[in-house]
Amino acid sequence: MPTTLPPCTGLGLPREAYVSEKVFDAELKRFFYTTWLYAGHESQVREPGQFIRFALGDADVIIIRGRDGVLRGLHNTCRHRGAQLLGDSSGTCRRAIVCSYHAWSYDFDGKLKGAPKMGSDFDPTVHRLRQAEVEVWNGVVFVHVGGGNPAPVAEQLAGVQFANTDIARSKIAKVVDFELTTNWKASWENALECYHCAVNHPELGRIFDVDADGEDGQGFPGGPEYIFIENTLRPGSVSVTPSGQIESKRPYKCDPEAGIERGFLQWHRSAFEMIASPDHVALMTYKPLSPSKSIVTQTFLVPEEAQPGAEFDPDELFDMHIVTRQQDNALCEQIYAGLRNIAYSPGPFNGSLEQENFRFLSTYRSVMGDIIAD
Ligand code: FES
Ligand code: FE
Repeated sequence: MPTTLPPCTGLGLPREAYVSEKVFDAELKRFFYTTWLYAGHESQVREPGQFIRFALGDADVIIIRGRDGVLRGLHNTCRHRGAQLLGDSSGTCRRAIVCSYHAWSYDFDGKLKGAPKMGSDFDPTVHRLRQAEVEVWNGVVFVHVGGGNPAPVAEQLAGVQFANTDIARSKIAKVVDFELTTNWKASWENALECYHCAVNHPELGRIFDVDADGEDGQGFPGGPEYIFIENTLRPGSVSVTPSGQIESKRPYKCDPEAGIERGFLQWHRSAFEMIASPDHVALMTYKPLSPSKSIVTQTFLVPEEAQPGAEFDPDELFDMHIVTRQQDNALCEQIYAGLRNIAYSPGPFNGSLEQENFRFLSTYRSVMGDIIAD
């Protein structure tokens, strides 16, 4: 039986959207493979041969710096018999990308440079690695693995400008992965509202105005696919840290004239979230593994010159985010246990506190509605 989504009436998605393999497969092809997805930070790939890998569903891309300085995406499948070329999530290739099956070797730009014993009539030039698009935005690396023709990240996020936080001149200080028994949408939808915060995030509530509805007088200048606003911190709090204060001796440039940083971004189309504080930046991604499994990753950036230990404590600086995430993880698994209940049916959103959920589902339905109704 086809799964048919109701029109965008203000209700959440039906049960099938969270449990169906068919919906999951369609999401990979039509939602994730056709957009820009967070892959890492440029500080990880500054030197020729340095690479990071992006893997999601059946997409697997090596993002590697060429000898010419260009950052490229190369699909991680050998042009001989298809073996996966690199298995590590990041690293440095010394001379070439070498397939360990029959030792075909590729230059960092994807050109085939060696194919042992293939004979004199073999033409290596027609067997270069297939490319995926890569775009660096404020130092953040995004990859587009396949279908569709998404507008550049810089165009889609043209309204997102950070006044105080030089995200490009940062480095990764910590990465935390959480594999959850939940559908990725349950995690993303949970991130979009703070209706649940007063009840579930006591630590966050000390520094954050958990009752703010996101309408801080600036509206939603970015249009329907992202929200970009100030962090709604309580008076006296300036950073999303355990104390609410700047806890690093090496913060980003703080320009008092620039006022409070507008540093809270949620990009629906890419399930990507960014929270900029004066002394660190938290990046969050929400990736599907199956209908019932997903992975939430928190990546923390600090200014590139900040010294761990001497100038900030990596075990404490990001703790407000991690503690809050752990509370959210338990909620996301609880939500999923209820969403998969055969008696579940979607209820109405809170028109003020859950308006971003409504926006996300509008985006989701615009991409998925016709496919799911096939
Ligand atoms: Fe890579 Fe044969 S599959 S060299
Ligand atoms: Fe939460």
